[in-house]
Amino acid sequence: MLGAARFLYGTCCSYQEFRRLLVDGWADVRSVVLARATQTNEVGRCAALMPLLAELPQPVALLEVGASAGLCLLPDRYRYRYQPERGPGRQLGPPQSPVTLTCELRGDTEPPTGLPQVAWRAGLDLDPVDITDPDAIRWLETLVLLIRFAPPAPVFQEVEGSSTGRRLLGPSA
Ligand SMILES: C[S@@+](CC[C@H](N)C(=O)[O-])C[C@H]1O[C@@H](n2cnc3c(N)ncnc32)[C@H](O)[C@@H]1O
Repeated sequence: MLGAARFLYGTCCSYQEFRRLLVDGWADVRSVVLARATQTNEVGRCAALMPLLAELPQPVALLEVGASAGLCLLPDRYRYRYQPERGPGRQLGPPQSPVTLTCELRGDTEPPTGLPQVAWRAGLDLDPVDITDPDAIRWLETLVLLIRFAPPAPVFQEVEGSSTGRRLLGPSA
């Protein structure tokens, strides 16, 4: 409900004003609540996943179940800044990447030394986010602050009765 109100009215205001918006616009708020589900796509997770993927035999194929817009399928396209508790930090990833993920390391955790080589990537989702749809993006941004978008990986939607059982929503890698 809070997300729906923010989607419709933006981030606002005093409690009294917020309450008035909700009461006056309840029919609209209700229809957004009924039409949409809570949705996120948190690229920050790649800072934790990427070192594990880089330790696997390379190259790797990535298949994410519940991929949303597929942003976590791009761990090799983000820039990372790992900062240990002691000692120098380390930066990895393409310097030209528009996304830099900063990660504080706790205890004796060593910064990773390399990126995974991704040979293939795809996502499966019951309700994928189409990042070419401005309305879908606005809903995602409504629910998650400061999200940044990178070039898309292909995202598939499961489709009952189709010959392949899925349809491609996003572009090829
Ligand atoms: C909270 S989002 C997480 C997105 C992404 N994995 C991330 O970490 O940023 C969960 C996603 O899982 C999808 N989902 C939930 N149940 C699913 C299922 N049974 N099969 C495929 N996708 C599913 C939802 O549609 C949603 O896009």
